[in-house]
Amino acid sequence: MSDAMVTLVCGPTGAGKTTWAIEHAARCGGLRFSIDEWMAELFAADRGEPQLAWMLERIARCETVIWSLCTQALGRGVDVVLDLGFSQREHRDKFGALAKVAGVETVTHWVDADVEQRRARVVQRNAQGGDTFAIDVTPAMFEMMEARFEPPAGPEREACTKVTTRNESSFTLRAEAPGDAAQVGDVLQRTFGAPGEAEVVARLRGSEDDGVRLVAMVGDGGNGQRVVGHVQMSRVRIGEHCGVGLRPVAVDPEHQGRGLGQTLVTEALARSAGRSEPFAVVLGSPAYYGRFGFAHDPAITSVYGGPPGAFQVLALQPGGLEGVAGQAAYSDAFSVV
Ligand SMILES: CC(C)(COP(=O)(O)OP(=O)(O)OC[C@H]1O[C@@H](n2cnc3c(N)ncnc32)[C@H](O)[C@@H]1OP(=O)(O)O)[C@@H](O)C(=O)NCCC(=O)NCCS
Repeated sequence: MSDAMVTLVCGPTGAGKTTWAIEHAARCGGLRFSIDEWMAELFAADRGEPQLAWMLERIARCETVIWSLCTQALGRGVDVVLDLGFSQREHRDKFGALAKVAGVETVTHWVDADVEQRRARVVQRNAQGGDTFAIDVTPAMFEMMEARFEPPAGPEREACTKVTTRNESSFTLRAEAPGDAAQVGDVLQRTFGAPGEAEVVARLRGSEDDGVRLVAMVGDGGNGQRVVGHVQMSRVRIGEHCGVGLRPVAVDPEHQGRGLGQTLVTEALARSAGRSEPFAVVLGSPAYYGRFGFAHDPAITSVYGGPPGAFQVLALQPGGLEGVAGQAAYSDAFSVV
């Protein structure tokens, strides 16, 4: 098996997939294939009125040639970055299966941005034209493609890297990897100004109470990325019911207020739901956690104090909180704080 990797870049319209694919290929020294460039060069001059079937047939032919080039690159140990739309799960699975046959690993990069920002980018792209194959995307087409995009779910979501693009910058989220531990510890220490939360995370790592743990990363100014945020989910028991607790979540003070916390929490909850966890609990500001759907339930309490209403719960499955009442018990790992 070669060490080379295949990156599948997917995401909704206007998310910034090609820009991200260019940046990522530069970082990993990979060969990039963006389908719009192929279609523009090979077929734009011949297309007449855009016909979906006409385009799909040519896209399929391009993909065949692209994959043939990919196998050569991969065989020589060179990464490939595929920016082929991948709005459908089936399309991603097809290339995942091809990579498997070639004996290499695949990772999905799910590029996303706030929907209003994506709409604005599409309007700007329509106005500017440019040399891509892209046709004018009307508001009706935008909505149609919104409905067509199948976001990674379940195990695919767990394994993917989520990329959030903004006008001037981007950040990524992915499952914490073994090499991240030192940077995670530094972020927790800097954010909380005390070692307690870092110690909790270190104790949970690999324990039976461990849950989803994610890192948020930004470019380090060179070719790498550095950890600037972290979220930890862990086992919580309420009577005979098991769920998860969200704690700690931390964003390096230098990077706070830019949406990293919101994306970390949203993704940690989605991945926990994907693991069939029935509910989540959190202790914190209702003004902050209310936006994720958390709410105080007087029937569910915690050993921790806090202001009234600060202990909150959220069902992650339909009926996930049915019959749940009593005091929530966190993992022993929290005994140090
Ligand atoms: C809480 C925290 C993770 C949020 O991350 P972030 O990246 O700054 O948050 P976002 O950019 O996604 O969201 C910012 C919003 O959260 C609000 N917010 C942040 N911390 C808040 C708090 N403690 N109480 C209420 N609201 C808060 C901001 O006012 C802002 O509101 P707005 O969207 O209405 O403008 C981060 O501020 C942090 O690490 N704080 C210190 C550690 C901490 O308290 N962790 C939580 C307990 S474990």
